This record gives sequence, structure tokens and C-alpha cells, in this order.
Amino acid sequence: LAPCAHSKDCMLLHQRPPSCQGWHILLNIFPFTPIEDKMWKWRRLMRLSNRSLMAFLFFFSMSTTCLYFIYVAPGIVNTYYFMVQAQGIMLRDNVRTIGHMIRLYTNKNSTLNGTDYPDGNNSSEYIAQPTTYLPENFTYAQNLPCPERLPSMKGQMEVNMTEVPVEETELKLKHLDIQFGGHWKPKDCKPRWKVAILIPFRNRREHLPILFQHLAPMLQRQRLQFAFYVIEQTGTQPFNRAMLFNVGFKEAMKDLDWDCVVFHDVDHIPENDRNYYGCGQMPRHFAAKLDKYMYILPYNEFFGGVSGLTVEQFLKINGFPNAFWGWGGEDDDLWNRVHYAGFNVTRPEGDIGKYKSIPHHHRGEVQFLGRYKLLRYSKERQHLDGLNNLQYSPEISLSSLYKNITVNLNPELAPIAEY
Ligand SMILES: *[C@@H]1O[C@H](CO)[C@@H](O)[C@H](O)[C@H]1NC(C)=O
Ligand SMILES: *[C@@H]1O[C@H](CO)[C@@H](O)[C@H](O)[C@H]1NC(C)=O
Ligand SMILES: *[C@@H]1O[C@H](CO)[C@@H](O)[C@H](O)[C@H]1NC(C)=O
Ligand SMILES: *[C@@H]1O[C@H](CO)[C@@H](O)[C@H](O)[C@H]1NC(C)=O
Ligand SMILES: *[C@@H]1O[C@H](CO)[C@@H](O)[C@H](O)[C@H]1NC(C)=O
Ligand SMILES: *[C@@H]1O[C@H](CO)[C@@H](O)[C@H](O)[C@H]1NC(C)=O
Ligand SMILES: *[C@@H]1O[C@H](CO)[C@@H](O)[C@H](O)[C@H]1NC(C)=O
Ligand SMILES: *[C@@H]1O[C@H](CO)[C@@H](O)[C@H](O)[C@H]1NC(C)=O
Repeated sequence: LAPCAHSKDCMLLHQRPPSCQGWHILLNIFPFTPIEDKMWKWRRLMRLSNRSLMAFLFFFSMSTTCLYFIYVAPGIVNTYYFMVQAQGIMLRDNVRTIGHMIRLYTNKNSTLNGTDYPDGNNSSEYIAQPTTYLPENFTYAQNLPCPERLPSMKGQMEVNMTEVPVEETELKLKHLDIQFGGHWKPKDCKPRWKVAILIPFRNRREHLPILFQHLAPMLQRQRLQFAFYVIEQTGTQPFNRAMLFNVGFKEAMKDLDWDCVVFHDVDHIPENDRNYYGCGQMPRHFAAKLDKYMYILPYNEFFGGVSGLTVEQFLKINGFPNAFWGWGGEDDDLWNRVHYAGFNVTRPEGDIGKYKSIPHHHRGEVQFLGRYKLLRYSKERQHLDGLNNLQYSPEISLSSLYKNITVNLNPELAPIAEY
């Protein structure tokens, strides 16, 4: 049968359309009453509005397409370039990994237990690392240093990035027995490292509880002595992550003779509790693989996210630069400083260095466009700008999980003579 040319044909014939098919099937469901007539009218109305709906959709998609090319496409081009670059990195890494495998294979006997931290002495990250952790029945001794590879460190952690009120987090972490102000130390062995965790931020209050919920239990499983320092920037100047770290460092050192400092972004959540937050002979870059970079190191000199230096190392490089206003660049400058001071950077191996980042798109924070110029003079500025030229006046308060250091920053606080 041919399709109905007009649905009316079918409707009038109702029972048995002789020469076409289509609408009658639908209509036969209903008894043929005056309601049908109303429905018919309604359908016509619908068809009319369908047409205007189609027109609306058409113009809507046209305009969104235009907007798409203006706003979104450049980002996609960037992502594409990153993917191309990332493929290069992956290829390079695979070659290195084969070398790594050969070394592992030929060097099977070099298993250590305890002092297995890869140091910069030995071409950093690709040392054959033993994978042996202490057995479950390992007994702690109060007078001995805590080992680095504890049975409590299970590897992959569950990450839950649901925003929760800070009170709920405090309640949840109550059993961890953290001192008011965010300080904790293990009781069953002597902590190998005393670690100050510095967390700079502005306008990100809701990220703090998420970070604490993951970090506090993890650091306890690693048997590290630690305290959280939250350094919040006030005032109208662009965000200065580096200067906040310098402030946090100076304040933390007034509390205790920390021997290791971890510089932690508030939106980076570790995924693996074997990512040991102790320091080493060389500065450590903990956040080697970020989910936002598809778990690939974006470039070899990348030193952002989460990094750790011993107090000695940090003093030697004169801390972070103070001159980076707005996001970007200060981590690259730290990398330069570390290398000019003769250090190499180590990173955790494999999946251990994985992090998830809480999405936020640099909310309301400007990019620092002058960073490339400053980075060219890293070496000259290293001893002029840093811990040694910084003055500030903080407001300090204690919270149950952290010490709150609030500080109003502006460029006059870190004067730098012409070089
Ligand atoms: C590995 O170590 C064991 C015991 O220490 C030794 O008997 C063996 O010869 C070593 N193997 C190699 C390849 O060095
Ligand atoms: C590894 O553990 C064994 C037994 O616990 C110990 O005798 C040995 O000294 C340890 N090796 C290292 C390098 O710490
Ligand atoms: C390299 O390691 C050795 C022994 O582990 C140590 O004595 C030396 O100081 C290290 N070198 C550097 C530059 O850290
Ligand atoms: C750092 O690494 C480079 C190349 O891997 C090496 O030549 C240099 O000796 C290392 N520096 C230190 C202090 O270990
Ligand atoms: C690198 O590590 C091996 C053992 O893992 C050690 O024998 C060697 O001395 C180290 N190299 C340096 C430069 O310290
Ligand atoms: C711990 O467990 C291992 C096996 O998992 C066993 O060989 C060892 O004897 C145990 N040690 C103690 C002190 O119970
Ligand atoms: C994540 O945390 C929230 C709030 O604590 C909770 O309601 C939710 O069930 C958690 N999700 C998972 C998958 O555990
Ligand atoms: C830190 O303290 C200041 C007041 O000194 C307060 O305004 C701010 O909200 C506090 N920040 C956090 C994260 O507790």
C-alpha cells in the first residue's frame, strides 16, 4: 500500500483504508468520536508549531556554531596540540621503559627494603624500584624510625570529590586523633620525616575538606609527622601562589623544626597512598601524573601541583620567587632554581604519582603573562628574590584541622633591586 497522502484520508475512512497506509493504524486505537476531530485540529496546530520549532532550532544551532568557533574551537586546537605532544612523550617513555625493564631484569638482586627512595644520584625516576612492602604482621617499635614501605600503604585509594561542609569532615576525621591546629605524629614508631604541608589558596574553601579527607588518613598510613598550613591570600592583587608558599614556610618554621616541606595545591587529590610524602636527597615532584593531562607528564621540566623539598634544599634555593603575580610560571622558576643549585628532581614511579584534580578553570584568577620574561632571568633573580626579600604581616588563627595564615599580598612586600 502507498502511504497516505493526507492523514484525513485515513481518518474519514476509519475502518479500512483501501489504498493507503499510515495514520489509520494510530487512529484505530481510539474509538471514532468527536474527540477525533478535536485531536485533528490539535495535530495541525502542533505541526505548525513544529515548523517554528524547527526554525528556532535551526537558528539556534547556527548561532551556537558561530559561538563555538569563536570560543571553544581554539581550546580544542590547543588540546589537539597537547595530544600530539603527549604522543611524543609516550613514545619516548616507552623506550625508556624498555630500558627500565632490561635493567630490572638484569638487576634483580638489588632489592632493598627501607632506604629504597630513588635519589637524584641515580638518574632519578627510572631506577629499578623494589615493589616489596612490609608484611601485614610487621611490628612497630617505638624507638625505631618508621619504615617507608609500610603494610598500611595499600596503593590505589578511592577518591571522592563530593563537596562536603568542613564540619562534616571534622566529624569524619575525628577518629584520626589530629591535634587542634592540624598537627599529628605517629606513636608506634619514630617518624622518619617531619613534614609541613603548605596549601595556598583563595576562593576555594570548598576544596579544603575534600583534600583533608584524602590526605590526612594517607599521611597517617605513611607514619609521617605532619601539620597542615592553609595560606589564604586577601586583597585585590592577582593570586601569588609562590609568595604564599614563602609566607607559609616562614610561619611553619616558627612552630617546629620541620625537616621536609610539601607544597600542595588545594585541588590536587592523590590517588595512591604509596606516594610517600617524605623528602629525599633530591627535591621531589609528587604530582607526576595528573588526570587533567591524561596522566602524562606535560613536559619534563614540569614541577607544578605537588612538590616537596627538605628545609635545607628550600633555604639553599632561596625559596620561591615572589615576582609571579597571577597563575603560571612560578613552578617553572622553582625548577630552574633547583637545577641551578645543583639538584635533580625525582618523581614517583608508575601509577604512584597519579592525582585527580578538582575541576575549576582558574576561577576568576588572571594568567601571568610576564612569566616568560622573568623565567629568562631565573638565575640572576634567584638570590635577589625569594625568602630573603620578603616582609609580610599575617593574621593567624587555628582551626581543628589546620593553621590558618591569612595575608594581604602586594608587590611592595618583596622589593627587588635592579639586577
Ligand atoms: C642473588 O642473590 C642471591 C643471594 O643473595 C645469590 O645467591 C645469587 O647468586 C644472586 N644472583 C645474582 C644474579 O646476582
Ligand atoms: C632488609 O631487611 C632485612 C631483614 O629485615 C635486614 O636484615 C636488611 O638489613 C634490610 N636491608 C636493608 C638494605 O635495609
Ligand atoms: C649520592 O649518594 C651518595 C651515597 O648514597 C651520597 O653520599 C652523595 O652525597 C649523593 N650525592 C648527592 C649529590 O646527593
Ligand atoms: C642530575 O642528572 C644529570 C643527568 O641525568 C647528571 O648528569 C647529574 O650528575 C645529576 N646531578 C646530581 C647532583 O646528581
Ligand atoms: C646508584 O645506585 C646503585 C645501587 O642501586 C649504586 O651502586 C650506585 O653507586 C649508585 N650511583 C651513584 C652515582 O650513587
Ligand atoms: C609474618 O608473616 C609471614 C608470612 O606472611 C611469616 O613468614 C612470618 O613468619 C610472620 N612473622 C611473624 C613475626 O609472625
Ligand atoms: C562521597 O561522599 C559523599 C559525602 O560524604 C557521600 O554521600 C557519597 O556516598 C560518597 N560517594 C562514594 C562513591 O563513596
Ligand atoms: C582564615 O582566617 C580568616 C580571618 O583571619 C578568615 O576570614 C578565613 O575565612 C579563614 N580561612 C579559612 C580557610 O579558614
